[in-house]
Amino acid sequence: MTQGRRSIHGQWSSRWAFVMAAAGSAIGLGNIWRFPYLTGENGGAAFVLVYLAAVAVVGLPVMMAEVMLGRRGRQSPINTMRALAAEEGHSPLWQYLGWMGMLAGFLILSFYAIVGGWTVAYVVRTAGGVFNGMAPKATGDVFDGLVGDPERLLAWFTVFMLMTTAVVSRGVRGGLEQANKVMMPALFLILVVLVGYAMGNGKFTDALAYLFTPDFSRLTAASVLAAMGQAFFSLSLGMGAIMAYGSYLSEHASIPRTTLQVAGMDTLVALLAGVAIFPLVFAYGFEPQQGPGLVFKVLPAAFGQMPGGRLVGTLFFVLLTFAAWTSSISLLEPIVAWLVENRGHSRIRAAALAGTLAWALGLGPLLSLNAWSGYTLFGKNLFDLVEYVTANVMLPLGGLLIAIFAGWWLSRTASVEELGLGDGLAYRTWRVLIRYVTPVAVLIVLLNVTGLL
Ligand code: PHE
Repeated sequence: MTQGRRSIHGQWSSRWAFVMAAAGSAIGLGNIWRFPYLTGENGGAAFVLVYLAAVAVVGLPVMMAEVMLGRRGRQSPINTMRALAAEEGHSPLWQYLGWMGMLAGFLILSFYAIVGGWTVAYVVRTAGGVFNGMAPKATGDVFDGLVGDPERLLAWFTVFMLMTTAVVSRGVRGGLEQANKVMMPALFLILVVLVGYAMGNGKFTDALAYLFTPDFSRLTAASVLAAMGQAFFSLSLGMGAIMAYGSYLSEHASIPRTTLQVAGMDTLVALLAGVAIFPLVFAYGFEPQQGPGLVFKVLPAAFGQMPGGRLVGTLFFVLLTFAAWTSSISLLEPIVAWLVENRGHSRIRAAALAGTLAWALGLGPLLSLNAWSGYTLFGKNLFDLVEYVTANVMLPLGGLLIAIFAGWWLSRTASVEELGLGDGLAYRTWRVLIRYVTPVAVLIVLLNVTGLL
């Protein structure tokens, strides 16, 4: 089926292992840190609904395409794109899609690992009982204290980057596959516990109305772009992470089924996070639109109040660290795979090299939160700017090109073969989505926000 190609990096032990790895990549800070804070910044329900629509109309088809291309090419995204383009008689320029993804991976990692560092720091703080009995609003000062201190921030950021590099250097199939199986369900459970707490102690009905009763008249082009960008970000699409993971997938696994499961779990976790957090935001009187610190201020306030909050809080941040870890690993994987393939490095060397570079790139965003906070561009500091450009421009652009390649450049026989749906209604629906709906939707949103449309 896949032209008899094999990946030199090995293969997942089963379809389920791939589902867990892809879900590990998708579920992370995007769901629990980024989704709530963007929802707050963009006014609630209308943003949530556009996000859900983007997951269905753009995210699902692109995810299928990415897994499909990865499995057919069986190499790092750059080499996969080159090989598939050559096979179909197209320009080698398609490999630049892989290069853009690699750049996006480095840039995302540079701020993602900073937030990953916050989660590790919060494990220590909750375990140490820092929040016990604290007045809810005072948790904001703890967060501001951490972010405002470049040295502490650098230490935690470095710890998180080392954790990421260490696992990637051992190969994705190492200990990670096992740990994933326990940690992901545990994270899910603790979120359900938090939703229960929010139901009893927060402004639950207010939060549900805020999250699910849309006022579309207040929706701006900027929030539509943010919602679409978040769909790509949360599903790990548009930069090759899922393509790289797809390249280790057995040819017998069903891509559509797998994709539905991964996207379903990812969306569920984001919604649970929203439903857990917003009742508390309102109950404690936090500003929903305060930005990236939201979750790190609101949840510790709850842990400080609830019985057993020290234990629950510690557990929560351990699991969140883990979720962030499995995502950052997938950001580094395409780069490391390419270094192994094209530069002949050992995995360890490749991971050390890529990790060091990503670490160095992160220093700018890190300092922009404190020492350099005076320097802004378009009203954003470097941290916000890198986050904005990668999620809202680079990932959608990558997704657009992936859709065009999979829908128009790849032969129909190839996609029929890979998706394994036959030539029936399901396949045709995917094909219409990937050829017309996805590219047009992404283009309209991108052009609209630049004012060109
Ligand atoms: N999807 C991850 C999250 O939600 C982040 C990510 C983006 C990972 C892009 C890989 C590629 O946390």
